[in-house]
Formats: sequence, structure tokens, C-alpha cells
Amino acid sequence: MIKIAAFSDAHFPKLVGIKELKVLRNSINNIDPDYVVIAGDLTEGEKESFETFLKEFEEIDCPKLICLGNHDLWVQSFEEATSLEKMEEFIEMGESFGYHMLDNKPFLEKGIGFAGTVGWYDYSFADPQFPIKDIENKILFYKGDTFAASWWNDRFYFRLKKRNPLMEMTFTEDDNFFVDSLKIPRSSREEDTYFTKLCHKHLNKSLNEIKDAKIKIAVIHHLPFEELLNIGREKTIESLFFNAFMGSKCFGELMIEKNVDICICGHTHKNFRRKIHGIEVYNVSEIKRGIKKIEI
Ligand SMILES: [Fe+2]
Ligand SMILES: [Fe+2]
Repeated sequence: MIKIAAFSDAHFPKLVGIKELKVLRNSINNIDPDYVVIAGDLTEGEKESFETFLKEFEEIDCPKLICLGNHDLWVQSFEEATSLEKMEEFIEMGESFGYHMLDNKPFLEKGIGFAGTVGWYDYSFADPQFPIKDIENKILFYKGDTFAASWWNDRFYFRLKKRNPLMEMTFTEDDNFFVDSLKIPRSSREEDTYFTKLCHKHLNKSLNEIKDAKIKIAVIHHLPFEELLNIGREKTIESLFFNAFMGSKCFGELMIEKNVDICICGHTHKNFRRKIHGIEVYNVSEIKRGIKKIEI
């Protein structure tokens, strides 16, 4: 039997602190796994936090596989780098600490293959009740008891093009936020679809490279199947709006085509297990439930 210790969405240090990282490490040691899989959102995109995280699990004596998450690719307004440059930097850091970075290449050992990607969204999961313009702006205006708005934060922190940081720094919450936020350069639909295609291409190539594996495992931060939307979550207007940013159908279609056996995903902060089109899907992102033990 093969044991995988899997988790995601620690968002260190925001959601999980250093003490809790140590608790997670102890429970991995108790599982005594053959592989550790971390399915993204390890950090909030800070290099120092990523390094602390890597050091914490460095000593675990088995292959440790990582795919990054959307928050790992966040860049702050004072940073020059694009999200792609951050991804390259994190891949390099991960490898220098002895981790196997699935966003770079797949992993194959003793007939077990892992192929992975951060994945992304191309709005194929968008709920039709919302205008595409609002989805592109990643901002939801709604009326409850009082008028309110809610937005998907990748709009500010994910970027494939360099931007003028000054433009973003002019933004304050004292200003008319709802108007001003629309003027701030933000990630666009083109950037999202371009990045989704890039991740799809990478997963396709990686799955081809492990095609002879007896067991094929896809690791992806975002959701690959529409059937996985809203599992364990209340269907509020916000959650339905945010479905657009949960993932893309294209990754699930690829997994079916390439006969993937197991998929490990994250991003929704809910743990569940579902069998979709013959693929055993584990979402391991509810970090307060700790490490998920997957036995094959
Ligand atoms: Fe997350
Ligand atoms: Fe995420």
C-alpha cells in the first residue's frame, strides 16, 4: 500500500502560523507517508514566507511534491515582478530545498506518476446569472439590506504584465472605492485565458511524460470539474459569483483523456472526496482538518 500525506491552502502566515506548521509537520511524520503532496496556496506570495514554509518540511524523508496556488503567484504593488516571474522564482527555490515542483516537471517513480499545475480559470465555470463584464472585472455589486460589493482578489495581485506601481498606490479605501477600483489596472480576461492555456499545455505535456505509469495522479490547485463546485459551501450570491474563479473544465477534460486515476486538488478550502468520470478526486484544502491521508 502507498500512503500519500496531502494538504493545501495553508496561506502561511495568514491562515496558518509557524506553530501550526509544526503541528502539520508532526502529523505528516505520524502518517509516515511514501509521498507528501502540497496542492497550492502555501503562502500569500511572499518569498520569505515561502522559504520558511519550505524549511519547515525540508527534513521529511520522502519525495515532497508541490504545485503552486493562485495566492503563491500574488505580487504586491511595490513589487516589480510579474506572476510568471514569481512562479519561476518559487520553482527554483522549491527545487533548491529538495522539493519536486510539479509546475516545472512531472515525477515518476516505481510506476507511480504525478503531473501537476497551479491550474487557473477561463470563466468556463461562470454562473450565467452574472454579466460577463462583472466577471471580467472580478467584482460583484449586490444589494442586500445595504448595498455592498465583493471582489476576487486575484484582480489586484495576479499580473502577467508589468504595471505602474504608482497607479495602484493612489488607491485608498477613503476614495470612492467602487469607482476607483475599476480604474486600477487589473488582471484581464485575456491574461486569465492565456495563463489557463499555459497551465493546460504544461499539464498535457506532463501527463504525456508519465503515460506509462501504472497509477497516474494529477495534482492541481484549482478545480478541474464543474461537479465539484459548491461542495460543502452554502450557495450564496457571492459563492455563485466566485464559481467563475474556481477552475476550468479544460483540466478535467484533459484528465479524462489521459486516463488519470487520482486527482488531488485544493483552492475551495473544503475537504471532500468524489468519483468523477472514473477519477477519484480528493480536495485537501480544509487546512483546519489537518493532513489528509490518501491510501492507494
Ligand atoms: Fe486558498
Ligand atoms: Fe486558491
